[in-house]
Amino acid sequence: MLDKRMEEALNKQINAELASGYLYLSMATYFEDEDLPGFANSLRVHAEEELEHGMKIYDYIIRKNGSVVLEGFETPERQWDGIVAVYEAILEHEELVTSLINDLMDLAEELNDHATIQFLLWFVEEQVEEEELAHEDLRKVRMAVDSRHLLYELDKEYGSLTSNEE
Ligand SMILES: [Fe+2]
Ligand SMILES: [Fe+2]
Repeated sequence: MLDKRMEEALNKQINAELASGYLYLSMATYFEDEDLPGFANSLRVHAEEELEHGMKIYDYIIRKNGSVVLEGFETPERQWDGIVAVYEAILEHEELVTSLINDLMDLAEELNDHATIQFLLWFVEEQVEEEELAHEDLRKVRMAVDSRHLLYELDKEYGSLTSNEE
């Protein structure tokens, strides 16, 4: 049985994960317009992963005999001031998501909800990876942004990415 406060907070996180996916999909459309299909692909893959994160929480709520309640989300950003700005926004967004996961963990601890603590540990580790990856991507684009050749190579690299979700 899920505590009502925990159920509500987990439902909010489903929304946050799906909204993250919507934001990354919007970034993919930005790169499609910029004629960088590889960058678009990597953001699209990231968007799909966020949907999977939302579904993990969806499934957990159902397993705990709770109710999933879906909400809408805001229209995502559509314009950025260049490629580096997009990757700065990704890092900032992942840091925000990390703080949301930490808040969920705080609540689970407050409620002595060991099952949810155990469930959330996957997300704690996932956010370490997400922030690490966001830093790495930002470093790469900062170095490549002034060279058409490097940008082409990076676009090719990002074009071959597929989901690495377990
Ligand atoms: Fe996520
Ligand atoms: Fe993420």
